[in-house]
Amino acid sequence: METIVEQLDLPSPELAAAWNAIKIPGTVRERLLAQSVLAFQLRQKFSFEVIPVHGLILLSGRPGTGKTTLARGLASKVSSALKGQKTKFAQIDPHSLTNSSLGRSQKEVTKLFQQVIPEYADGNPCIVLLDEVETLAPDRQRMSLEANPVDAHRATDAALAGLDLLTRKHRNVLLVATTNFPKAVDRALMSRADWIENIGEPGPEARTEIINEVLEQLATVWPHVVDLKRHVSSFTAASEGLDGRRLRKAIATAAGISVETASDLNKLKKEHVLATLKTFLQTQVTEEAA
Ligand SMILES: Nc1ncnc2c1ncn2[C@@H]1O[C@H](COP(=O)(O)OP(=O)(O)OP(=O)(O)O)[C@@H](O)[C@H]1O
Ligand SMILES: [Mg+2]
Repeated sequence: METIVEQLDLPSPELAAAWNAIKIPGTVRERLLAQSVLAFQLRQKFSFEVIPVHGLILLSGRPGTGKTTLARGLASKVSSALKGQKTKFAQIDPHSLTNSSLGRSQKEVTKLFQQVIPEYADGNPCIVLLDEVETLAPDRQRMSLEANPVDAHRATDAALAGLDLLTRKHRNVLLVATTNFPKAVDRALMSRADWIENIGEPGPEARTEIINEVLEQLATVWPHVVDLKRHVSSFTAASEGLDGRRLRKAIATAAGISVETASDLNKLKKEHVLATLKTFLQTQVTEEAA
């Protein structure tokens, strides 16, 4: 299995679109970008001993809150801010390092930080997405020695050591990590993050934007759907607590309430959308209780 699942030259239109797809408060957006640009600046001008910045930004939050999408968008934004420098992007799948026998994963993890990333960056500014980082550096304190052989500990040790070495030697690499399970991430990795952003469920403004966006998209094919925009405030009120992924899905699949509406989305009514949102919220609550 390939460790790098995607590689791109930046800025990329696809990644720039990802940045806009996620509706979050402007303050959060600005802070993420500022922290990332700052990490590049400081690391290119000072040694780690003087300014101990690792070049690691962590996005934490519940499933479906847009972390992966946002991290990809951030990469493109950072590259635009670094004006004129050729910048690269790589997305790492940490699962590819642990599928092999545990003994090998330690070796693979070391290789990722000491060889795969530096070779790919090749001296250029490079933004590396470590998606679902709890797989790469699981919390050693949660591992029981019986259930998890010593090798699993060693793989986390290797991730931390590899990160430290990369940090010192390759000042042009910025790591953006995501997790929907921060308790499962090793604390020593969390401690190395220069900035941790907790991404929450979308607030009312964000929900309104998401709902309008999905309705407008549907209306490009079924023009009457646009009439539903009159009820967006009801939809916003009825969707409190849904994550961005569930909300997009709820609006998009509301027509699944009957074969008639599914066949012609022009027949989609306010009540259908409200009923679907209610069902989505109920199933979400049930999942949480489970
Ligand atoms: N705040 C938001 N605004 C708009 N869309 C959102 C938002 N949050 C999530 N989405 C949508 O939900 C989908 C899932 O997003 P993404 O995969 O980035 O979430 P994630 O936080 O990485 O989830 P997971 O923890 O399950 O990996 C995307 O289509 C994204 O556009
Ligand atoms: Mg994700």
